[in-house]
Amino acid sequence: MAESIFLFLLLLLFLFLSTNPVLSQPNNGLVYNGFKGFINNNNISLNGVAEIHNNGLLQLTNDTLRLIGHAFYPTPIRFKNSTTGKALSFSTAFAFAIVPEYKKLGGHGLAFTISPTKELHGGFRPPPSQYLGLLNANNTGNSSNHLFAVEFDTVQDFEFKDINDNHVGIDINGLISNDSVSAGYYVQGNSTMQSINLKSGNTIQAFIDYDSAKNELNVSLSLSSTKPSSSILTFHIDLSPIFEDTMYVGFSASTGLLASYHYIQGWSFNMSGQAHSLDLSSLPSLPEPKQSYTALILGVSVSVVIVIVFAIGLAFYIVRKIKNADIIEAWELDIGPHRFSYKELKKATRGFKDKQLLGFGGFGRVYKGTLSNSNTQVAVKRISHESKQGLREFVSEIASIGRLRHRNLVQLLGWCRRRGDLLLVYDFMPNGSLDKYIFDQPTTILSWEQRFKIIKGVASGLLYLHEGWEQTVIHRDIKAGNVLLDTELNGRLGDFGLAKLYEHGSNPSTTRVVGTLGYLAPELTRTGKPTTSSDVFAFGALLLEVVCGRRPIEPKALPEQLILVDWVWESWKGGSILEVVDPRLGGEFDEIEVVVVLKLGLMCSNNVQVKRPSMRQVVRYLEGEVGLPEVVAPPEEKGGGGGVGGGFEFEDFVHSYPSSSNFEKVSGFSSGGDGDVETGCGGSPVPLAGGRNGS
Ligand SMILES: *[C@@H]1O[C@H](CO)[C@@H](O)[C@H](O)[C@H]1NC(C)=O
Ligand SMILES: *[C@@H]1O[C@H](CO)[C@@H](O)[C@H](O)[C@H]1NC(C)=O
Ligand SMILES: *[C@@H]1O[C@H](CO)[C@@H](O)[C@H](O)[C@H]1NC(C)=O
Ligand SMILES: *[C@@H]1O[C@H](CO)[C@@H](O)[C@H](O)[C@H]1NC(C)=O
Ligand SMILES: *[C@@H]1O[C@H](CO)[C@@H](O)[C@H](O)[C@H]1NC(C)=O
Ligand SMILES: *[C@@H]1O[C@H](CO)[C@@H](O)[C@H](O)[C@H]1NC(C)=O
Ligand SMILES: *[C@@H]1O[C@H](CO)[C@@H](O)[C@H](O)[C@H]1NC(C)=O
Ligand SMILES: *[C@@H]1O[C@H](CO)[C@@H](O)[C@H](O)[C@H]1NC(C)=O
Ligand SMILES: *[C@@H]1O[C@H](CO)[C@@H](O)[C@H](O)[C@H]1NC(C)=O
Repeated sequence: MAESIFLFLLLLLFLFLSTNPVLSQPNNGLVYNGFKGFINNNNISLNGVAEIHNNGLLQLTNDTLRLIGHAFYPTPIRFKNSTTGKALSFSTAFAFAIVPEYKKLGGHGLAFTISPTKELHGGFRPPPSQYLGLLNANNTGNSSNHLFAVEFDTVQDFEFKDINDNHVGIDINGLISNDSVSAGYYVQGNSTMQSINLKSGNTIQAFIDYDSAKNELNVSLSLSSTKPSSSILTFHIDLSPIFEDTMYVGFSASTGLLASYHYIQGWSFNMSGQAHSLDLSSLPSLPEPKQSYTALILGVSVSVVIVIVFAIGLAFYIVRKIKNADIIEAWELDIGPHRFSYKELKKATRGFKDKQLLGFGGFGRVYKGTLSNSNTQVAVKRISHESKQGLREFVSEIASIGRLRHRNLVQLLGWCRRRGDLLLVYDFMPNGSLDKYIFDQPTTILSWEQRFKIIKGVASGLLYLHEGWEQTVIHRDIKAGNVLLDTELNGRLGDFGLAKLYEHGSNPSTTRVVGTLGYLAPELTRTGKPTTSSDVFAFGALLLEVVCGRRPIEPKALPEQLILVDWVWESWKGGSILEVVDPRLGGEFDEIEVVVVLKLGLMCSNNVQVKRPSMRQVVRYLEGEVGLPEVVAPPEEKGGGGGVGGGFEFEDFVHSYPSSSNFEKVSGFSSGGDGDVETGCGGSPVPLAGGRNGS
């Protein structure tokens, strides 16, 4: 009896297997010229936010932050010969387009995917971002993933050793590509690769061919309907251990804090020969590009955030464990500048009352205070730091920072440490920070004379930091919010050295780029190593914004004026340089001085480090000691992402987000809501390498 039931069940199972479409396969291939009339989970399986437009365009993601979209052929396909266990050859061609909301800022990319599941391995767990919807931080690189993907990646992620922010890579079981190449294509009879900008918004046809006899995988790209004769990437691999017997094939894409629309316009796939290349003219068209720029969304590669959040969390935990009273430790006694007692500062700021708050930002809150014994007004910056070790190293540096003295620096008067809190006492600057005089709708308009004086002051303060002292001090966060104005409206740099605090506290293996987007030199995001030259770059951005009365990236501006340095350069080239001058000046300015400052701003904003002047040269130019060169080099250097859509790629500013502060802060920035409020004492360096220009 039992046997017969068992046999019956076995028979049922057999019938089930032989009729179930699970093992069916598109033997003669499939060609989708668009996805019109496709029924979800019948003709194609969509999940995440993927959807099909009425015209048949498959959209994997829109340009909202942190989305995932998947589209897979609904049934699994046999990828291995069942008798020999050898991977089978396959060939595919598909047409895709990546349309970032802002032409030059895209994220994160899409991938042609062969995977054991349609849902992918936990790809849905946040944060999707740089994992392209394929994997997550826990399982990337695990050989049990059995995942094969070809990525079309538009963000350079250092943790995945990405070569640039415009590349094609072969990913096996993880996001660190086994091989990758800058996006490009070959035209017949020319052995020079032409570059392609993946996020140009144009349709690009990709071809992927695997020959299992030769264990060879080829990838090529084309801007037309014909397959190029040469591939841009050839990789030798036997996919047999990677594939399971049957696999799902399709596409995956994700957005992070940078976002693009990811579209698939058509797809052909073949297990038994070359996939037909697609006729681009017969594919569903892309939506008209959006005209309005309502919000500028920038972002940060999120996995590093996880690492940092984890590190901070751990540090927090440790600090909590050893939390004790405000014991002054031996090492603190040797520190140079005046050490205030906590009681004294508490009294001065009336117990850190909100009423005394001058502002807050990335590092901490700033309170106004009055020292009771001398009746001097001070600004007290209260910084919470989770890592005691980091604080200790930083405090030892206060000894030297406190000795810096220059009329264009905000003087550090003293400090105090209490548990994980560091309190820094500065001269009070009654006129607040420069940003509130130049951005948005300032209530007070600075005249050109005042602006020029501020510029010259800041330049000389920065020169002092770079050269005027026994050791070179790199500010790392030059921006309008960190320029304070004293009673005579002299510009004074605040917060020097503070950015370092965040380096002391973090894991040395995670390079943290500190600064504010729009002021970050391109090489800084690559090397993570601040130099005097990266300060000069930020100073260049400051020069331009002071003249033009707006931020380096202005979401509300016309598209061609979105990026200040581009706009200034175009106007300069077009001979209409005075157009960019802040209209609030009402035309009242010294034309020669304005041109000097703009020209200098362009020179300092050069993408190539060695082409920027030093601060010493900058001061000479500003003081009129030497004339500026007649010819100014364009601030950008072509290359990398050039090609289609060409021109200067702003991604050089933005192309990587190796670090960030915490996630909320970053989101705060992208919504444009908070950011740095003016502080009476040095704005706050925002420890993130992405995010809207902090203020
Ligand atoms: C979608 O699937 C249904 C049912 O399998 C089939 O009848 C229809 O022709 C398919 N549509 C397309 C466009 O392939
Ligand atoms: C993008 O898709 C998400 C999820 O489907 C949706 O909430 C959001 O409104 C969409 N955004 C745009 C700009 O269409
Ligand atoms: C599997 O391999 C065997 C032996 O090489 C061959 O005869 C057979 O045709 C192969 N099957 C498929 C589906 O390729
Ligand atoms: C990674 O694994 C840990 C421990 O199992 C878990 O708490 C965490 O949520 C996982 N993270 C992701 C992104 O899946
Ligand atoms: C890889 O994934 C498997 C299954 O999820 C898990 O058991 C294993 O511990 C993972 N290996 C590593 C090195 O993370
Ligand atoms: C490359 O592919 C192999 C599988 O053949 C894998 O074991 C290896 O970890 C992959 N990754 C890199 C970065 O080489
Ligand atoms: C090949 O392409 C390069 C780069 O676009 C171009 O400069 C060169 O003239 C081309 N050569 C030929 C023979 O067309
Ligand atoms: C890969 O490309 C090379 C050169 O472009 C070509 O010789 C080879 O036949 C190609 N292999 C496959 C599997 O398409
Ligand atoms: C698949 O390849 C076979 C053999 O070359 C060819 O006859 C067929 O048309 C191809 N199908 C597609 C959809 O490319």
